[in-house]
Amino acid sequence: MKKIILLFFLLAVLIDQGYSQATLAITADDSKLTISRHIYGQFAEHLGHCIYGGFWVDPNLPVAKQDRIRLDIVEALKKIKIPNLRWPGGCFADEYHWRDGIGVASQRPKMVNTNWGGVTEDNSFGTHEFLELCGLLKCEPYITGNVGSGTVDEMSKWVEYLNFDGESPTTSLRKTNGHPAPFKVNFWGVGNESWGCGGNMTAEFYSDQFRRYASFAKDYPGAPLKKIATGPSDGDYHWMETCMKNIGTRMWGISLHNYTIPTGSWSKKGSATSFSDDEYFKTLKNCLRMEEFVTKHSAIMDKYDAAKKVALVVDEWGIWTDPEPGTNPGFLYQQNSLRDALIAATTLNIFNNHCDRVKMANLAQTVNVLQALILTDKEKMLLTPTYHVFDLYKVHQDAKYLHIQLNSPDFESNGDKIPAINVSASIDSNKVIHISLVNLDAHKNISIRTGLKGLNWKTVTGQILNSEKITDINTFQNPDKLKLASFTGAKKAGDDLLAELPAHSVVVLTLK
Ligand code: AHR
Repeated sequence: MKKIILLFFLLAVLIDQGYSQATLAITADDSKLTISRHIYGQFAEHLGHCIYGGFWVDPNLPVAKQDRIRLDIVEALKKIKIPNLRWPGGCFADEYHWRDGIGVASQRPKMVNTNWGGVTEDNSFGTHEFLELCGLLKCEPYITGNVGSGTVDEMSKWVEYLNFDGESPTTSLRKTNGHPAPFKVNFWGVGNESWGCGGNMTAEFYSDQFRRYASFAKDYPGAPLKKIATGPSDGDYHWMETCMKNIGTRMWGISLHNYTIPTGSWSKKGSATSFSDDEYFKTLKNCLRMEEFVTKHSAIMDKYDAAKKVALVVDEWGIWTDPEPGTNPGFLYQQNSLRDALIAATTLNIFNNHCDRVKMANLAQTVNVLQALILTDKEKMLLTPTYHVFDLYKVHQDAKYLHIQLNSPDFESNGDKIPAINVSASIDSNKVIHISLVNLDAHKNISIRTGLKGLNWKTVTGQILNSEKITDINTFQNPDKLKLASFTGAKKAGDDLLAELPAHSVVVLTLK
C-alpha cells in the first residue's frame, strides 16, 4: 500500500513539474516503402530576393560566385542534400516566356513581374542559368511550364529545347547558346495554381487543358517527363476528384498546395517574430491540418489509382506570415523562428508517414522568401532554424519507412488540444535506424518510451534543435543563436529506448 502511495506521489510531483509521458512502438514495415528523397525538395521563384539578390547576385558583390551564382548558398544547400529545385514559379511561371530568358543576357527582353511587386524582370536568370545552378547543387531540376498565358507550342518547344538530342531549329538554338547536349529534365509541371493566379480555370477545364498541353510535351529518348498536374489547394476535394477522373495515370503526379497561416486569415496573417503562446498553439493546429489534407486527398486518389502510381506532390508548403516590417510587401520576406522549425519538422514527419503516396514536396521558398532556409543581406548570409531541420532530417532521404504507433499526451491551450508529440522513423541501407521526434508543447518536457519490434540496435546518439524561447531567431548579428547540438537525453533500457524531449524541440536519434 505504502509503495502505491509513493508511486502516486512521485507521479503527482512529475506532472506538477511539467513532465509528461508518451509511448511509441516502431516496427519494420513489410511493404518495404521508401521515403523518397524528393520529399525534401525546394522551391525558387522569381519573387523578391529569392533569385535576384539571393541565388543570382550583382557581379560586384564581394562573395565567391560562379557566373553570378552565389557559392556560399550552393555549399549550404549541398550540405543538406537538396534533391530537387522547383522553378520559375509559382504564379510567375504562368506569365513566363522561356524564349525571353535565353541568349546573350544584355539582349534579353525585359518584362513586368505583375505578381510580385510589379518590378522589372531583366531575364538575366533563365533556362541555362537555372540548369547551371542545379548542376552546382547536384539536384534535379523541376520546371513548371506556362499554361495560363503560354501556348501549347511554346511549352512543346521548351521541352524540345531542353531534352531532344537530334537536329532541329530548336536544338540548333540551344547549341548556339552554348549547350550541345540535351539537359534531360524530368520533372515537368503543367501549369501552377490553374484555379487561381495560373488562369482562374475550373477543374473540368484545367483537366482538359492538361491532356492537351501534356500531349505535346514529348518524351524524348533518354528523357521521359514526369508530368505533374496543377492540383488542389488545401481541402478542394472536387479539384482532386475531377483531375483523378479525367487525367488519371496520364500524369506522373498531382500537386497540393497548403500554407500554414498563423491567424488563419490571409489579410492579417500574423507576425513571424512576435506572437503569443495562444497564437503559437493556433499556428501549430493549422500546420497539423496537413495530415487531414494528405489523408483525404490520398483517399480520393486511391479510388482511381489503387496501385498508387500517381504521386501526391506537395510542391508548395510552409508558414506564411506578414512580411517583415519595412520590407516590400510584394517580396514576401519573413524572418524564421523556432516555431517555424517545429512546423517544418512536423510537416516532414507527416510526409514521411505518408510516403506511400507523397513522393515529392517543395518547401516555399529556399532563399529570402516565406519559410526560407537561407536569408541574405548583401554579402552576409544566415541559416534559419528551418535549414537545421532539413539538415537533421536528411538521414531519411531514400531510407526505408518504419511503421510507428504513437500514444502522445495532449498539448492543451485555452480549452483546445493537439497531440504534443509527432514522430517518423526509417532504416537506411546500412541498417541504421533514425527516429525524428518533435515536442510541440510550449512548456512541458515529455519522456517517451519506445519499443522496437524486429529491429536490432545497441547504441543511441542524437542531435537536437531547441532554444530558450519559441520566438527565438537567427539574425545577422547573432546568426548561430539556433543551431544543432548533440543530444544526450536518450538511453537504452533493456530492449526499450527512453528519451526525454525538452519542450519545443526537434530531436533526431540514430540507433546502430
Ligand atoms: O509561394 C508564393 C506563391 O504562393 C506562389 O507563387 C503561388 O503558387 C502560391 O500562391
